[in-house]
Amino acid sequence: MAKTRTISFEYNELESVSELSEHKRSLIEKAQEACNLAYAPYSQFRVGAAILLENGSVVVGSNKENASFPAGTCAERNTIGTASDLHPGETITSMAIASSSDILLTDEILAPCGICRQVMCESENNQRTPIELLVLMPSGKVLQLDSVSQILPFHFNPSNLKK
Ligand code: THU
Repeated sequence: MAKTRTISFEYNELESVSELSEHKRSLIEKAQEACNLAYAPYSQFRVGAAILLENGSVVVGSNKENASFPAGTCAERNTIGTASDLHPGETITSMAIASSSDILLTDEILAPCGICRQVMCESENNQRTPIELLVLMPSGKVLQLDSVSQILPFHFNPSNLKK
C-alpha cells in the first residue's frame, strides 16, 4: 500500500533589509556590490554572492558566462569555490545572494538554481552545520532560510555512495 508523505519547510520573507541585523544587512550589501563583478554579456542577469565564514571573513563572487553557454558558472558556485580556496576547511555560516538585471523585474521568488543547491548541500554535509541563505529579491524583500538542504529535498549525498 503506497504511503503518501509530505515534506514542508519554513522560510522567512522580510519586507526589506531593514528588518535584518546590521551584520546581515552588510552581507547583502556585499552581495549587491558583487553583482558589479559579474560577467553576464549574454543574459544581462548579474548575480552576486557574499559568503560569511565562521572566522569572520567575507568572500564575494559573481556569475561568469561564456560564449559556449554551458561553460558559464553561477555566482553561488564560484563563490563557494573561492571561499574554500582562500580559507580551506573554514565553516560557511551564511550566504547572501543578490541579482541585478535590466531586463527582469519580477516579484517572484528568486532562489539558487538546482546545481548550486546541490553544491551548497555538499558544503553543509562536509561541515556538518547548516548554511543560512539570505536572498535579496528584486522587489527589495528578503528570503531567509536556515539551511540550504531545505530547498533541495532528497539531495544526493555522500551516504548514497556508501556500500
Ligand atoms: N545564475 C546564477 O549566477 N545563479 C543562480 O542561482 C541562477 C542563475 C546566473 C547564470 C547565468 O549567468 C545567469 O544567471 C542567467 O541564468
